[in-house]
Amino acid sequence: MKQFYSTKDVYDLEGLLQTISSFKQAPHSVPLAGQHKSLAMLFFNPSLRTRMSTERAATNLGMDVITMNMKDSWAWELEEGQVMDADKAEHVREAAGVISSYADIVAIRSFPGLKDKKEDDRDALLSTFIKHCSKPVINLESSLRHPLQSLTDLFTIREHMTKKNPKIVLSWAPHPKALPHTVALSFLEWMRFGRHQVVVTHPEGYELDPSFMKGHSLEYDRDKAFENADFIYVKNWSAANPYGKVLNIDKSRMITLESLKRTRKAKLMHCLPVRRNMVISDDAMDSNHSIIQQQAKNRLHTAQAVIYHLLTNMQT
Ligand code: CP
Repeated sequence: MKQFYSTKDVYDLEGLLQTISSFKQAPHSVPLAGQHKSLAMLFFNPSLRTRMSTERAATNLGMDVITMNMKDSWAWELEEGQVMDADKAEHVREAAGVISSYADIVAIRSFPGLKDKKEDDRDALLSTFIKHCSKPVINLESSLRHPLQSLTDLFTIREHMTKKNPKIVLSWAPHPKALPHTVALSFLEWMRFGRHQVVVTHPEGYELDPSFMKGHSLEYDRDKAFENADFIYVKNWSAANPYGKVLNIDKSRMITLESLKRTRKAKLMHCLPVRRNMVISDDAMDSNHSIIQQQAKNRLHTAQAVIYHLLTNMQT
């Protein structure tokens, strides 16, 4: 693997899943794999799991980690040929060049603006940084994709599935703030790996980008969608039209223990953070359905496997 931006970077999924499993069993099995190598992590947005799991993953492999909260740094100009006379003090070309000289792997988180879908679809920060960076880049969540989360989700589903072709429902749930589509889109992209029956359920007006829906089905009626489901993956995202707005905070779409009764004892998943009694009720969060803590723990093993594969590729 040369970088980790999307599914397209994964040449050997089964090998990667096997490495995740191995690091879950023995996280300190290769403590010198990243000796004298450094990981630079740049956060343009907040994080708990991604930051801590990736940092811990790198140190398990013997790497040094430099973490930057980018709110403490210079604002980057991403466009070419600009007269930089406004608030942006540094061009991404220089920033990427400098960071490439300090780090062996660079990891970046940058959320979408949720104002202009076309602009968010460009994923400009990640794509321009990758273009100008000479080191492998890990996407820690960008406008369209959250591959460390989605690979973790795939691994967690593989761990818990009890039949070959499980029914997986991606269920929208209410939230008071406008959230990106990223986790939902990325989940749909990664669920194309393997034999899964994926059904998406959300209120009208919350349609996800059709290119990510390919191979999956849509059922507006949540009760119908939940019938015989093996996994319920809960996530909020903002509206499709008008893009990035909150149209609906219909509490009847909150996931409760009652709502899970029509499933096939489905496992309940969420990427976290989650707002209790808004997105998922206490009784569902604290029930035997929930594998949310196991899912979050797997973020560590996934990050370690991805970094390990990038390090291994550098040596060949
Ligand atoms: N799921 C996830 O990415 O969590 P953080 O935003 O806390 O990193």
